[in-house]
Amino acid sequence: MPQIGPMTSQPRTYQSPKKRVLLLGATGTIGRATARALAARGDDVVCFVRSSSAVDTDGARHRLQAKLGDVDIRLGEAADPKSLRSADLRGEGFDALVSCLASRTGAPKDAWAIDYQAHADALAVAKEAGIPQFVLLSAICVQKPRLEFQKAKLAFEKLLIESGLAYSIVRPTAYFKSLSGQIDRLRKGKPFLLFGNGELTSCKPISDADLASFLADCLSKSDRRNKILPVGGPGDAITPREQGELLFELLGRPVQFRSIPIGLVRTVVSTMSGLTWVMPALAEKAEFARIAHYYATESMLAWDPISGAYSESATPSYGRDTLRAHYQYVIESGSSISLREHAMF
Ligand SMILES: NC(=O)c1ccc[n+]([C@@H]2O[C@H](COP(=O)([O-])OP(=O)(O)OC[C@H]3O[C@@H](n4cnc5c(N)ncnc54)[C@H](OP(=O)(O)O)[C@@H]3O)[C@@H](O)[C@H]2O)c1
Repeated sequence: MPQIGPMTSQPRTYQSPKKRVLLLGATGTIGRATARALAARGDDVVCFVRSSSAVDTDGARHRLQAKLGDVDIRLGEAADPKSLRSADLRGEGFDALVSCLASRTGAPKDAWAIDYQAHADALAVAKEAGIPQFVLLSAICVQKPRLEFQKAKLAFEKLLIESGLAYSIVRPTAYFKSLSGQIDRLRKGKPFLLFGNGELTSCKPISDADLASFLADCLSKSDRRNKILPVGGPGDAITPREQGELLFELLGRPVQFRSIPIGLVRTVVSTMSGLTWVMPALAEKAEFARIAHYYATESMLAWDPISGAYSESATPSYGRDTLRAHYQYVIESGSSISLREHAMF
């Protein structure tokens, strides 16, 4: 079964002046789309990527280059400041650093190493190199930080805000890929899994291409400078139950849900958390249970501190790609979605 490629809606056109951009995290889902968006704007993009199966052979490098577009791929360790420094970025005169770097697991140690420390080091190198602008891909869920990866992201956001560099902190809602994990089980005739009644949470899903275009435009739009920018996709917010209904409609099948009681998830979280007192090795698994509980109970919408509730209207909409069109494309093309370690979030 083919893996899904980028959403192929109409190409976007840009009129902003060309920039020289250093991009971190270019091999990730949003990083790849951002590399393409920057290249499409005519920007001069250097992607700093680590040695891996995606680049280590000529064939793999060729495939990555085809995915990223007209960009310069350089090998190095974004998580190692020595590597960033030895890439001799100082001589190159970058206008901006754009980071789509993120912990692939969300495990506490990795989150602090990547979402915080690697970013803190990249910020220091950017300052030394005289790079004046930093665009950061963050997440809307950091507004209610309960998980370690959220705390790590928030700690770096604070560092960036206080750095003196021009910054744009982009906090998107849910990605299409994160709402596509059940397509394969539905294809096999299985029911759609819901937490509770499937109406506990909602989000305004945004496509990779729309989010990438939003990130790329932060380089030139002065009203996005020195701001924290929550962003969702076009249209109304959608609950998990509505996602399921949409998928069954497109598959031409009657709706069939199976509910996982939220109390069960809560019990798993408290049991695992309790066990870590006697078995510290379980700490990571307990955090994954907390991550699952968080996404089962918290909406990916902006939090309105006045009403004390998530607010659809306070969550800006951007872009034009709809979840319906994405689902339709995945179903009709027979594609599968690779969630890798991000299956939960
Ligand atoms: N999923 C959602 O619905 C959602 C919604 C809002 C926000 N977010 C946030 O978006 C982020 C995920 O974005 P994504 O899905 O585009 O990420 P992704 O596909 O997992 O990509 C992560 C990028 O970071 C790089 N990276 C990770 N660990 C590294 C390391 N140790 N050294 C060097 N590079 C490393 C990866 O490089 P390699 O390819 O070499 O591993 C890759 O380029 C997360 O922070 C999440 O909180 C997600």
